[in-house]
Amino acid sequence: MARTAPVNMRSLVLRAMAVRDVPAVGRIDLRAFGSDGGWPESAFQAELRENRLARYFVVEESPGSPLGYIGCWVIADAVHIVTIGVDPDAQRRGLGALLVMRALELALEAGVPGVTLECRASNVSAQALYGKHGFQIVGRHRRYYADKEDALIMTRIDDDPAAARTRLQGQRHRHHRAYGAQVTQVGG
Ligand SMILES: CC(C)(COP(=O)(O)OP(=O)(O)OC[C@H]1O[C@@H](n2cnc3c(N)ncnc32)[C@H](O)[C@@H]1OP(=O)(O)O)[C@@H](O)C(=O)NCCC(=O)NCCS
Repeated sequence: MARTAPVNMRSLVLRAMAVRDVPAVGRIDLRAFGSDGGWPESAFQAELRENRLARYFVVEESPGSPLGYIGCWVIADAVHIVTIGVDPDAQRRGLGALLVMRALELALEAGVPGVTLECRASNVSAQALYGKHGFQIVGRHRRYYADKEDALIMTRIDDDPAAARTRLQGQRHRHHRAYGAQVTQVGG
């Protein structure tokens, strides 16, 4: 399997996922989740082509070579994170955090107060990522996944958009201090 070039984290682009990104995103998904857990490329294609609620983003260092992705649905009063993955060779360098912050910003753009997701009860690394970004465990779906593992429901609610914007700015500032990356956000 092709390895990802090392990430220097100096200059990153965060942009909307396009259909042409799907093969690369599918490879990351397979590497991140393993063959049992991830999505087929057809699922990403259907999301991009057919789901009007879906907003998907990638983060990349070299144009056209995503290192991570996030998929969200903008539903009635919340942004729901439906999938997120970072190439294993690029993990623990702040890319997952950038993607989660993009979902938080999407909630501000959409004018909804909440961001919510489900996470395997055993996935402590993802729970740490979400916890660091203000998500709290608010419930549990018993035997939610095909292998009967429980899902934890995690939510962050921001009732005051101005306070949420300030909070997000603080998180971005801390991210820049920690990782030193210049992040360019392209498009919506
Ligand atoms: C979860 C995932 C997206 C995180 O991506 P990432 O780019 O490695 O995350 P970041 O580098 O931005 O990490 C941010 C913080 O999250 C937490 N975190 C991330 N990975 C962690 C790990 N393996 N162990 C403990 N904490 C972890 C830490 O608090 C970390 O901050 P720190 O590095 O300063 O300690 C990535 O591990 C992944 O793709 N996992 C497989 C797919 C998956 O589980 N998706 C989530 C489904 S709910």
